[in-house]
Amino acid sequence: MTAATDGTRVTIIGVGPGDNGFLTLKGKQAIEEADLVAGFQTVLNVVIPFAKNAELCPMAYRDQEEVLDYAVGQVKEGKSLVVCAWGDLNVSAKELLDRVRRRVDHVDLVPGISSVQIAMSRSGISLEDVVFITLHRRDGKESALEELVYYLKDGRRNIILLPSPYDLMPAGIAAGVIEDGVPGDHRMTVYQRLTHDDEQSWSGSVSECAAITTDFSDLSIMI
Ligand SMILES: C[S@@+](CC[C@H](N)C(=O)[O-])C[C@H]1O[C@@H](n2cnc3c(N)ncnc32)[C@H](O)[C@@H]1O
Repeated sequence: MTAATDGTRVTIIGVGPGDNGFLTLKGKQAIEEADLVAGFQTVLNVVIPFAKNAELCPMAYRDQEEVLDYAVGQVKEGKSLVVCAWGDLNVSAKELLDRVRRRVDHVDLVPGISSVQIAMSRSGISLEDVVFITLHRRDGKESALEELVYYLKDGRRNIILLPSPYDLMPAGIAAGVIEDGVPGDHRMTVYQRLTHDDEQSWSGSVSECAAITTDFSDLSIMI
């Protein structure tokens, strides 16, 4: 039997929604103690003030496999690695988690504050009244959109929806659900860049949202 301490080990932390005041003390400590800290550049920006002793490994969508290969290679040489993700790790972060899990024997997860929690606190709604749907995924967007239309017509729950940068964004989603028979006067809110200095929110009807021609941030949440 293999002891839990054997093998390669990586810590993944949720850094929160953007303002580093929402980084947990556990997450901050893991970053301060790490030899390497990897993550998308915008996510790393949140933790850079605490990563003074670490080699930073910024990644982009196109090179994330290579960057993780390099960073995990360093773990095999005895270094410690923390991988950072937006928000919380159990909210629409499966693809990154799986990428790390495929490469190492053990993964320690340090949860964070999700942008979904911030959206709920801004709008005053509770998790028990919510259906959560993410389009921020490679597969399954079609069935997620079907679910969205189903719950919008059902009308019993608030829906928290993560759009898909940049192919399924708020205006296109709103136009799509109207085509699928959802009443255009349904009320909705879009939160952009929650907790960042340039946070914004927009509220109106689904029809009004469908008519918006300006771009939404890739950090947008719809309720
Ligand atoms: C891959 S998902 C990760 C979600 C993250 N694990 C969380 O708990 O917030 C990325 C999506 O989360 C949403 N998101 C993350 N941070 C956000 C923020 N500060 N404001 C608004 N939306 C945000 C956006 O929809 C973004 O496209």
